[in-house]
Amino acid sequence: MHTLPRLPAALLLATSFFAGCSGEPAAASISALTPPKGLEALQLTTTADNPLTEAKAALGKQLFFDTRLSGSGKMSCSSCHLPELAFSDGKRFSTKDDGKDNSRNSPTVHNVGYYDNLYWDGRAKGLEANVLAAWKGQIGGVPDDVAKRLEANATYKKAFTDAFGAGPSETTVVHALASFLRTLRSGDSAFDRAMAGDAKALGENAKKGQELFLGKAGCVTCHTPPLFSDRLYHNIGIGMSAEKPDVGAAKPTGDASKTGAFKTPTLRDIAKTAPYFHDGSVATLREAVQLMAGGGLANPHKDPLALDRQLNDAEIDQLVAFLESLTGNQKFTAPSIPK
Ligand code: HEC
Ligand code: HEC
Repeated sequence: MHTLPRLPAALLLATSFFAGCSGEPAAASISALTPPKGLEALQLTTTADNPLTEAKAALGKQLFFDTRLSGSGKMSCSSCHLPELAFSDGKRFSTKDDGKDNSRNSPTVHNVGYYDNLYWDGRAKGLEANVLAAWKGQIGGVPDDVAKRLEANATYKKAFTDAFGAGPSETTVVHALASFLRTLRSGDSAFDRAMAGDAKALGENAKKGQELFLGKAGCVTCHTPPLFSDRLYHNIGIGMSAEKPDVGAAKPTGDASKTGAFKTPTLRDIAKTAPYFHDGSVATLREAVQLMAGGGLANPHKDPLALDRQLNDAEIDQLVAFLESLTGNQKFTAPSIPK
């Protein structure tokens, strides 16, 4: 029996499932439906009318990269969700198919199958609703036109029939995309391997950073493993000094106390998803950590859990080293798009 790192009681509950994973051989071929190391205890949000299958996920993967889905024929979901950047895009704000800029930063779409509500402000109730909104809003998709285009392609037509027993339609396209997204899971990071008993997985700085993260720095309160998100909404002051601040979760909930509150973002793959925060206002991970460790930015709605932790430079570096250990080990192979 290996020893787990020292953890606060609340976290032990969340991580006790790691205990059984030690020493298990890596599976020879990991199916898209098998969760990676570290996420085994989580339940996907699959809906009753869209059970997850390999066939749907494989089709959704092609659709995610296919510019046929867009209004202009030039954009795909992958225009802003790039595999090499953990499915973010490296920009502060991206430009939509209609030429207008987004007002929020493109987040990673890893592990989105574990959230009931999507988007920075949680306005999408479920992944299917999110996908339909992104299809129409980001890439200007007109579902009936796209369905006809896909129907005219013999390879797609067969793939839809095989996956759904039905042809391309608004519903089957959305279901395929959502199924693909549910298989995009990030785990098996150095942190996950350490939790599973690999004593050498984390370097000294990362280990000290982990202790800070779980202890004195208080990050774990909101960035709770295994997703490194409590899936709740907090105001930490980002963008609140703007003339017309983005009200965040106050809009979909109608709850004024949620003014400027945004979903706690996952910290998995955080080293790959600069720039940071909902408005992409911070360029580097170190600056983002510094801002968070300083308790965020003062404003009338700031969450009382965001406190100045009085950390020194070396401790900030250790936190950064820990966050760098959260990069997942999954390999992504691009699909071939039917001609
Ligand atoms: C032009 C850039 C762009 C394109 C293209 C795009 N997205 Fe996004 N995506 C974004 C932005 C920006 C957000 C955050 C918006 C917000 O929270 O208000 C986002 C958020 C998301 C989220 C929510 C993630 C979370 O953690 O809540 C999902 C899922 C998603 N997109 C899927 C898709 C799919 C599927 C497509 C193709 C149909 C797509 N996106 C196309 C920019 C883009
Ligand atoms: C009160 C809850 C809370 C605490 C405590 C907290 N965070 Fe955050 N963190 C958030 C929220 C909410 C955001 C997103 C805010 C936004 O964009 O408006 C965020 C954003 C971040 C980001 C940027 C993520 C991205 O994808 O852009 C990093 C990095 C981060 N936090 C690290 C930390 C670290 C390190 C600590 C401990 C020193 C910490 N956080 C403590 C809630 C919290």
